[in-house]
Order: sequence, then C-alpha cells, then structure tokens
Amino acid sequence: MLRSILLAAGRSPLARTVVERTPATRYVVRRFVAGDTLDDAITATTALADDGLRITLDHLGEDTTDREQADATVDAYVRLLDRLRTANLAQAAEVSLKLSAVGQFLGSDGQRIALDNARRVCEAAAAAGTTVTLDMEDHTTTDSTLEVLRELRTDWPWVGAVLQAYLRRTEADCRDLAGPGSRVRLCKGAYKEPSSVAFQSRHEVDRAYVRCLDVLMSGEGYPMVATHDPRLVAITARLAGDNNRARDSYEYQMLYGIRPEEQLRLAGEGNTMRVYLPYGDEWYGYFMRRLAERPANVGFFLRALATK
Ligand code: FDA
Repeated sequence: MLRSILLAAGRSPLARTVVERTPATRYVVRRFVAGDTLDDAITATTALADDGLRITLDHLGEDTTDREQADATVDAYVRLLDRLRTANLAQAAEVSLKLSAVGQFLGSDGQRIALDNARRVCEAAAAAGTTVTLDMEDHTTTDSTLEVLRELRTDWPWVGAVLQAYLRRTEADCRDLAGPGSRVRLCKGAYKEPSSVAFQSRHEVDRAYVRCLDVLMSGEGYPMVATHDPRLVAITARLAGDNNRARDSYEYQMLYGIRPEEQLRLAGEGNTMRVYLPYGDEWYGYFMRRLAERPANVGFFLRALATK
C-alpha cells in the first residue's frame, strides 16, 4: 500500500513540488545521490574506486518531454565520459543510461531519437574506453529498449541492459540474452506494474529472480547481479561454483548508499562489486523509488524532517 502511494507520488508534479521544497529533503537525498554536479560525481567515484569498488554512473533524469532536454542529457553524458577518461577513472567506472531521458517518449519518433542519442553516448564511452548499460523503466518501454539494445550491440557488442525479474516475460528475455558477450544487469524491478505483466508478491518475485539468475549464470554472457538481498547474493555464489564461473565472469551490483558495508565485504573477498552512483539535480523520481523499496527509509526521511 505504502509502496503504491510512494510510486504514484513519484509521478505527481504536486508531490514533487512539496518534497523538493522541504528543506530536510536534501539531507536524505544525499544518502542515495552523489550530488548535483559533475565534480560531485567525480569526487564520489574517486572515493569508491579508492575503496576497490567499480562504479556505474547515472546522470539523473527521466521521462523527458522536449528535444532540448534530451540533447542536454546527451551532452552531460559526453562531458562525464570525457572526465572519466582524463581522470583515469574509465577502468573503474562505466555509465548507465535511461532511454526516456534521451528522447524515448518524444512522440512516434521517440525510439529513433533515443537510439541516435544513445549512439552518441556509446561513441563517447568507446573513446573513453568504458561501457554503457541501458536502464530498464516501466514495462511499456521494455520492447523498445531491447530493440535499441539490439541496434547498439551491432556496433558496440559491450552495451548491456537491465532486465527486471518481476516481469513475467523476463525469464525468456534472459534466455535470449544469455549468449557470448552479452551483459545483463538483473534486478527485481522498481516500478508499479499490473499483475497481467508482473509478479506481485515478494515471494513470487524472489523465485522469478532465482530462475532468471540460473539462466544467466549457466549461460555464456556476463551476468551483473544487481540486488541487496542477502539470500540472492548467497545463491549467486553457489551458482558461480556450480557453473565453474571464474570471479571475473560475473559481478555484483548495489545502489549507492544501500548496504555499503556489504559492498566492501564482497569486494574484499575478491569479487567485482559495482556501485550504481546517481548524480544531478533531477533526483526526484529516483529518490521516491528508493523510499518505496523500504518503509524504513520513510521513517528515516520523517525523522530528518523533524530534526533538520
Ligand atoms: P529487496 O527490495 O528485497 O531488498 C533486500 C534488502 O536490501 C532489504 O531488506 C534492505 O536491507 C536492502 N534494501 C533494498 N532496497 C533498499 C532501499 N531502497 N533502502 C535501504 N535498504 C534497501 N530497477 C528497475 O526497475 N530498473 C533498473 O534499471 C534498475 N537498475 C538497478 C541497478 C542496480 C545496480 C540495482 C542494485 C538496482 C536497480 N534497480 C532497478 C532497483 C531494483 O529493481 C530494486 O528495486 C532494488 O534493488 C531493491 O531490490 P533488492 O533486490 O535489493 O531486494
């Protein structure tokens, strides 16, 4: 119930105004977001890399409705990738891209605009010597995002994508994307979806995650296991053993600010551990999804409102 309310608020302009104008919000947002600027992102990336972690950077923004905004987002990614190169961070850090931020919703031409814009980001990533992973948004975008992925991979086979275990279709998508060179980031899924397309209970989603993970870990691609769930982390280690996977043939991924001590523990054991690091001033939608994932975060938010 609370999850549904928070996810609905995440799409409401009125709720956005209220949350953004609340002075204590910034304090809570900083737990999940590196900061507003490129310099903030580079500072946080450097600190994570110094701790032996890998990073994937997200320039915050989504659901763009005008062309200029989409172009500005592409420019921001190009600047980011250039900074990663000049700061010698391209080995440790890649980028994550939401197609809705680069034009996917711009009318009937949206998919083509997003593809052209994603190409510019991939060119900049190739020049920097790093990779791009496409985030996955609500289920109405899945086919379009996977189509863009297919197009991009003909020029840049290292482009990866997120698959969401809560979608009923995802086990089949995992089979399609378990081939050599394929990079799939498997997560549970963060949007409000109808039962016609998505499993609803935690138990069903967790079981679907294990089925998808099994497909990816026994396949020939590079699974990126994006979860904070201790049970799924343990199952990943078991599946790696069962499938004779070397430690550099898959990786763990978690969000910035969530279970940081576990991130360091996994990296300290010799695993590749990548942290999803968002930055920028368009943090509202991302922040509301993090609140929705865990009721305790709402308590943290309310306590900050009371004390700041
Ligand atoms: P679960 O929600 O069961 O959490 C397991 C435990 O982790 C909790 O008990 C708690 O300890 C901790 N935890 C989880 N979320 C927390 C939070 N917000 N605050 C504090 N503690 C928390 N989704 C999507 O739809 N599209 C996408 O592209 C992506 N991309 C993505 C990239 C990466 C690297 C990650 C890790 C996640 C995503 N997600 C995503 C989000 C994902 O779908 C999911 O909503 C969250 O990861 C939470 O699910 P868990 O698997 O962690 O399990």
